[in-house]
Amino acid sequence: TNLANINEQGHLTIGGIDSVTLAKKYGTPLFVYDVEKIRNNAKAFVDTFAAHNIKAQVAYASKAFSSVAMVQVAKQEKLSLDVVSEGELYTALKAGFPVDKIHLHGNNKSLNELEMAVNEQIGCIVIDNFYEIDLLATVLEEKQAEMNVLIRVTPGIEAHTHDYILTGNEDSKFGFDLANGQAAEAVQKIAAIDSIHLKGIHCHIGSQIFETDGFVMAVDRLFKTLAEWKEQYQFTAEVVNLGGGFGIRYTSEDDPLPLEQYVQTLIKEVAKQVKEYDLAFPEIWIEPGRAIVGDTATTLYTVGSTKNIPNVRKYVAVDGGMTDNLRPALYQAKYEALLANKADQEMNEKVSIAGKCCESGDMLIWDIDLPEVKANDILAVFSTGAYGYSMSSHYNRFPKAAVVFVENGEDKLVIKRETYEDVIQNDLSYEEE
Ligand code: LLP
Repeated sequence: TNLANINEQGHLTIGGIDSVTLAKKYGTPLFVYDVEKIRNNAKAFVDTFAAHNIKAQVAYASKAFSSVAMVQVAKQEKLSLDVVSEGELYTALKAGFPVDKIHLHGNNKSLNELEMAVNEQIGCIVIDNFYEIDLLATVLEEKQAEMNVLIRVTPGIEAHTHDYILTGNEDSKFGFDLANGQAAEAVQKIAAIDSIHLKGIHCHIGSQIFETDGFVMAVDRLFKTLAEWKEQYQFTAEVVNLGGGFGIRYTSEDDPLPLEQYVQTLIKEVAKQVKEYDLAFPEIWIEPGRAIVGDTATTLYTVGSTKNIPNVRKYVAVDGGMTDNLRPALYQAKYEALLANKADQEMNEKVSIAGKCCESGDMLIWDIDLPEVKANDILAVFSTGAYGYSMSSHYNRFPKAAVVFVENGEDKLVIKRETYEDVIQNDLSYEEE
């Protein structure tokens, strides 16, 4: 832990504010985002492209954390926005996000989603499958409208954090396969539809990737494909979108690269390929989610019961769990934490942090060193900014947590804690009234 973030009372501070005070003011579980960190992550991507004079769009993958306030910060930082559903699109529109910088994704876009995208004239739709081409063509015909699209391909590279797998076909529900000619067929099909403008190509090779090799391989595959398409269909890509997946540090086991370095690698490899195949230099688009928000939030919990099994384990239970952070249960994801009200004290206990859901798998952290833990201590779990709130649920009818943004020494509530009335708001009675 960074000693600079501990105040005179020995409390953890976030963005200069005492976290114990925040926990008291807003209650727990509480997500606290340090907005300056979000801005810095965004700038690391945007500024690196600018420094190299590369036309680019950095689209924040809002699935990582979508809320009106977050989308507004993305807008302020001149990001574009990747949405994957009507709900994320609705959030973006409510936040006043510029529509021409919104990109719609999804492997099963509904008629409603496509209609909304066309009505709002969003920047582009990333076409995923043949069914969608027909559906979009019908919507455009009906509305006498046009739409820019990218075509999503699966290049046969699966990146898994430390290693990557190279296969002929990728066994994935997303996109058109390059290997078996489906992607080329899709290009021809789209070319025949006047209302759909094919701007370029998209791929996303995975998430929480620490090395650049997978990205370099993806660039190579895409440009080899673009060279073929130029020759066969006189198609020139204005845009090459390389997706997201840039890894972040959750624990000391993780060793990601600085964000600038991912961008530099992509630029260098694109330049190399453009030269090799004598192609026009396209705009480079990327879609980071985790790398924008992951390390910018801390979740605060209040400690309740403990259960000590002598010589086995001490369980320390907090007032949240898989309902606000599904990642440990779903992916065995690891996190670091400390006691926010005892941040200056010696760690002399090894404990495991349990959630409060009726489910044995609801464990947040196994085997962590903490100072002696007591009821009402505040536990701070770090790097919960991505896929935490956004994957939260109402399991056991827990109301969803609150979210606070901290910036310039001030805290602001940006998502209210749900009430029990919120939880049952759609329930209807089955008894005579
Ligand atoms: N673009 C596309 C097409 C994607 O499918 C994704 C993530 C992203 C961008 C953003 O990836 P990122 O930069 O955040 O790695 N729930 C999982 C992660 C699922 C990612 C799904 N797609 C987790 O909590 O680790």
